[in-house]
Amino acid sequence: MAHTRKDFLKATALGGAALGLNPTGSLAERVTRTPLEKPAPTRPAPRAKNILILGGTGFIGPFQVRSALERGHNVTLFNRGSGRAMFPYLETLVGDRNGDYEALRGRRWDVVIDNARNNPSWTEMAAEFLKDSVDQFMYVSSRSAYADLSAVPMSSDAPTWTYESAGVPRDQENLPYGLGKAVSERIVQRVMPGRSTILRPGLIIGPGDETDRFTYWPVRIHRGGEILAPGDGSDPVQIIDVRDLTDFTVRLAEDLTTGEFNCIGPATPRPMAELLYGIRAVTTAESSFTWVPREFLEAHGVRPYQEMPCWRPPVPGFEGFARFDLTPEIEAGLTFRTLADTAEATLEYHFSRPVERQNSIGPGLTAEREAEVLAAWHAQNG
Ligand SMILES: NC(=O)c1ccc[n+]([C@@H]2O[C@H](COP(=O)([O-])OP(=O)(O)OC[C@H]3O[C@@H](n4cnc5c(N)ncnc54)[C@H](OP(=O)(O)O)[C@@H]3O)[C@@H](O)[C@H]2O)c1
Repeated sequence: MAHTRKDFLKATALGGAALGLNPTGSLAERVTRTPLEKPAPTRPAPRAKNILILGGTGFIGPFQVRSALERGHNVTLFNRGSGRAMFPYLETLVGDRNGDYEALRGRRWDVVIDNARNNPSWTEMAAEFLKDSVDQFMYVSSRSAYADLSAVPMSSDAPTWTYESAGVPRDQENLPYGLGKAVSERIVQRVMPGRSTILRPGLIIGPGDETDRFTYWPVRIHRGGEILAPGDGSDPVQIIDVRDLTDFTVRLAEDLTTGEFNCIGPATPRPMAELLYGIRAVTTAESSFTWVPREFLEAHGVRPYQEMPCWRPPVPGFEGFARFDLTPEIEAGLTFRTLADTAEATLEYHFSRPVERQNSIGPGLTAEREAEVLAAWHAQNG
């Protein structure tokens, strides 16, 4: 795919249409991910479920909606009102997760999906309020819930954070992210024993991701030239396209599958080199990769995951970070899109954003910093 500006305008319109988006509005605004009208199911499930999504209008929520509607399910949203503008054809119940759940009273759903980020009290209030009105409670947790990522391969049996292992007093209000996730998981399992599903995604990527943690790479490779690449290319990467995550979520709801599930991929961890070459396959700019060892990068202030997104070389204690055995998840229905699909959709989304936003990619290296580090590397290595 050629990524000239003209091509992007065209690709954006086509990509938007393919995604069911509004191609005529301001594509960078969240609301542009709104289909103009309720899409017809494209691959209906044998039985339609009634699904309540707590949230639904941020990053993953709209894709949960889309995955559910594609399967012909009925979706209700609960948020402070953004759902009414984004999904006018869905029922949005208005409340506040800080304590106003009245809009949910007297209703029944098959399943609720809770997207609360790091607010155990939100999750506790919702679970208590809904325990007799839903069959299944799905909580979107995180790989960060694991207190120990040293096992190879990792599985969902690995220990998760406790107040004790995190060294955090029980009365502390704002919990570290991983501990907040682990505490929320246990709340759900206590309030709805045997009826809870815990999803532990790794880095969620793809269209709509405003954190830019994967986006850095497609955008950088699309720019072409000499690209600073970390390590020797062999370090493993496991991440998840938001659409794979939400398709899996809906499958677990359809089958009333309970338990804990890691949500990352692919099944065989992808070496960093394969990730970058795979992304390059959907761009046309001339480019080359210069692989620079971790020690040199560290010495020049280039940190894994921050300045080199997606890259976390296996250091002691984190050997399993991107080495999950996903056999149970695949048996339960987790599938993986191609990297090409993810890379293309990410580029289309990125180039649909306002130019200022396009020019302020979050993590990663600026062009100047990258050139400096490459120059230092060549000066040392000829
Ligand atoms: N990004 C990653 O790589 C990653 C990795 C692992 C796990 N996760 C997890 O994935 C989830 C991401 O969720 P998301 O933000 O994309 O979910 P979302 O459901 O799409 O968006 C957040 C929703 O929360 C609603 N909301 C915010 N404050 C509220 C309040 N006080 N009362 C009621 N509703 C409120 C917002 O609507 P209103 O503003 O209208 O209220 C919005 O609909 C999080 O749990 C995160 O921890 C993310």
